[in-house]
Amino acid sequence: MRREATIGLAEDLNIAPMGVGAWAWGTTRIWGYGQEYGRQDVGDAFRASMAEGITLFDTAEVYGNGASERIIGEILREGNLGGTPVIATKFAPLPYRLNPRTLIQAVDNSLERLGISTIDLYQIHFPSPVPRSKGLMDALAEVVKEGKVRRVGVSNYGADAMKRSHDRLGSHGVRLASNQVRYSLLDRAPETNGVLDACRDLGVTLIAYSPIAQGLLTGKYGPGSGRPAGLIRRFGRAFGEQNLRKVKPIVNILREIGSAHDREPSQVALNWLVERGTLPIPGAKNERQARHNAGAVGWSMTDEERERLDLATLGWR
Ligand SMILES: NC(=O)c1ccc[n+]([C@@H]2O[C@H](COP(=O)([O-])OP(=O)(O)OC[C@H]3O[C@@H](n4cnc5c(N)ncnc54)[C@H](OP(=O)(O)O)[C@@H]3O)[C@@H](O)[C@H]2O)c1
Repeated sequence: MRREATIGLAEDLNIAPMGVGAWAWGTTRIWGYGQEYGRQDVGDAFRASMAEGITLFDTAEVYGNGASERIIGEILREGNLGGTPVIATKFAPLPYRLNPRTLIQAVDNSLERLGISTIDLYQIHFPSPVPRSKGLMDALAEVVKEGKVRRVGVSNYGADAMKRSHDRLGSHGVRLASNQVRYSLLDRAPETNGVLDACRDLGVTLIAYSPIAQGLLTGKYGPGSGRPAGLIRRFGRAFGEQNLRKVKPIVNILREIGSAHDREPSQVALNWLVERGTLPIPGAKNERQARHNAGAVGWSMTDEERERLDLATLGWR
């Protein structure tokens, strides 16, 4: 894939080609916030990321039912951040929020929780249950014009819905900046479902969520390790024994490639996404993870190494 195709957002916002995901900040049952890690840890993760030049933080109004935004607001108020963070958040078009005016109210609520006057990137979290609804895009354009939001994006949108959103926003003179979808070496669906191509064609940045497959690509979970804490990974196939066995050879390749560059498996997995021109937002629960993830940028694999990873994971989803 051509790197320049989807690099727009990083250049536009003057940020590194990677961010930090804040879903786990304040999310108790789903991620285990308050058990293995807590408020001090995520504050340290924020500051460490800033110190490493990773300044984009991705949250959502629904993360921890507003707790993630509130925690970021607290950290911003504490100050001493060594730079200006770039804040991305999301609107959830739940079935009982069909009136686009709810988006305008939701922006105000997010601004209040975050304690800021402008959201750098405001995204529709998932497609509206009303197919082909234009109202959400009209409302997005309105909040841009009011100066409450700097850039707008969508998330979990397929190629067609994304193109429609792009066109509708364009009719208001507003650019669709991003589409945030799940993308990693273990989920390569965007390459085959048209989303990556559509991003390239429209100049929309693909923000890659769950870029280290919720920890699977770190190498710390393997056969016999059992499932990690938090509801999100307790159920489903991903952290089941069979899948852990399947992922092991991939982690071994990441480890081999990493050893040639003095990097760890997850840093190689994130670098692979950056090199594709996408913008990964790995979740970090503490300072160590934040610093470690920052080590994914600023270096390159060889073409052979990249091809080896491409081939080993082709068709994974
Ligand atoms: N738009 C959407 O619908 C959507 C959906 C999902 C996620 N997202 C966004 O994407 C972000 C990232 O996705 P994600 O949190 O699902 O998955 P992820 O980034 O692939 O994995 C994050 C988890 O991996 C582990 N980890 C992270 N860095 C590590 C390191 N350096 N060393 C060891 N372990 C490390 C941590 O869990 P442990 O330490 O417990 O292993 C962490 O919580 C979210 O925070 C959110 O902002 C968006």
